[in-house]
Amino acid sequence: MRTIKQMLSMEGRVAVITGGCGHIGRAIAEGLAEQGCNLLLIDRVEDALKATSSVLGERWDVQVEGLAVDLENAEARVSVAPFIRERFGRADVLVNNAGFVGDSKMTGWVVPFEEQSIETWRRAVEVNVTAGFHLSQLLAPMLREHRCGSIVNVASIYGLLGPDMSLYDRTEMGNPAAYAVSKGGLIQLTRWMSTVLAPDIRVNCVSPGGVARNQPQVFVDKYVTRTPLKRMGEEDDFKGAVLYFSSDISAWVTGQNLVVDGGWSAW
Ligand SMILES: NC(=O)c1ccc[n+]([C@@H]2O[C@H](COP(=O)([O-])OP(=O)(O)OC[C@H]3O[C@@H](n4cnc5c(N)ncnc54)[C@H](O)[C@@H]3O)[C@@H](O)[C@H]2O)c1
Repeated sequence: MRTIKQMLSMEGRVAVITGGCGHIGRAIAEGLAEQGCNLLLIDRVEDALKATSSVLGERWDVQVEGLAVDLENAEARVSVAPFIRERFGRADVLVNNAGFVGDSKMTGWVVPFEEQSIETWRRAVEVNVTAGFHLSQLLAPMLREHRCGSIVNVASIYGLLGPDMSLYDRTEMGNPAAYAVSKGGLIQLTRWMSTVLAPDIRVNCVSPGGVARNQPQVFVDKYVTRTPLKRMGEEDDFKGAVLYFSSDISAWVTGQNLVVDGGWSAW
């Protein structure tokens, strides 16, 4: 019988994390590196990748590399598999974490329904679903090789639930249809791939609730009141869920969506 410690160990394995320099991606990377996992971080900005990789590599004594890829660009995504093969020789885990979250200044994004643009819709779908689909396809042959392959998609509670727009009153924040629909698509892609890629590769999803990021107090107050555990999320809240799905401790779990939201979706 294996111990819990052995089942949670990621020693000798390689995880690819998209959006690895972002808030949640970085926390996921720390969690996997702490368990001995080597990492390929994918993000847009070379300098941020270099800085994050060197800090994590030194802190956890694992191999950490960075690769700048614009995930909106299909041709750029194709560079990922050869890079992993050359630098690591294997890939065991793919975490599709990068997200098109937009911002309030973007045209056609945080605006009333009638003004939400097809262009931003397409960009959100490209990053939030198509890139995850494409990278899973590109890495599947490698993920199959060592019989411990795992894909973990990072979706959102808004892939499951409709928005309550009154939360955003008196703020510049919003909740565009394309974000919700693309995250819903990622949750369904998880189920679809889980049966099709079985038994060689497990595919699961983590759906975060809202994370504290200096949002306006009026929004935070409403959000916390509506959350059973009475606070917004923190980056560390997602480490355990992603480690669970990445490691052998969830060896008989596939096709699931773990909602990490302080209970937001429970009522
Ligand atoms: N923050 C929240 O409240 C929240 C809630 C639910 C779900 N999520 C999801 O969690 C994931 C991580 O979010 P976060 O809060 O860490 O956001 P973040 O903006 O801090 O990090 C996202 C990272 O993805 C990268 N990225 C975005 N588009 C990219 C592209 N085209 N090519 C390459 N890299 C790209 C960004 O550079 C960034 O480093 C996202 O998928 C997001 O939708 C976040």
